[in-house]
Amino acid sequence: LTDISALLLSRIRDVADYPEPGVMFKDITPLLADPEAFTALSDALAGIARSTGATKVVGLEARGFILGAPVAVRAGLGFIPVRKAGKLPGATLSQAYDLEYGSAEIEVHAEDLTRDDRVLVVDDVLATGGTAEASVQLIRRAGAEVAGLAVLMELGFLGGRARLEPALAGAPLEALLTI
Ligand code: PRP
Ligand code: MG
Repeated sequence: LTDISALLLSRIRDVADYPEPGVMFKDITPLLADPEAFTALSDALAGIARSTGATKVVGLEARGFILGAPVAVRAGLGFIPVRKAGKLPGATLSQAYDLEYGSAEIEVHAEDLTRDDRVLVVDDVLATGGTAEASVQLIRRAGAEVAGLAVLMELGFLGGRARLEPALAGAPLEALLTI
């Protein structure tokens, strides 16, 4: 582990049996509350934004907003929210995706992404990859290019990386921590 990885890992709290029995929840609130760790995280993700040549940062509601917004500011890029359905007032594109039980839908303002954009998607966790996959589809449908996906942590045992490979079509998936 690098120093930064060790710092980030030390500020993620494992919560057993949340939100349901058998699940180990990764709580990032201690990391957000620590200015040194939150700054290191923002800088690392902003470095990925620069190296991928991104022109915009998309954050995935809700925790992807918290992580993505400082990355956009630090990288000098615009921030575009991908929201859960029904929250954006303008003309939107929507993308439905399956959850373990039921389905969900995310949306983006259609005018926020153009054919000239290269978009870095930022989120806290890559689990099954369903949310990230839907966001990649949304960005492509908006006409923009996907520069990559950057997450704080990847839950390797859930297979999200393999699921995302076809959707990413060669764009990088960067995880600062793999658990
Ligand atoms: C969580 C997490 C990721 C997503 C990962 O979001 O923040 O966005 O699940 O899961 P997946 O890879 O299986 O799609 P969630 O919507 O549960 O909560 P949030 O609104 O707090 O971000
Ligand atoms: Mg989320």
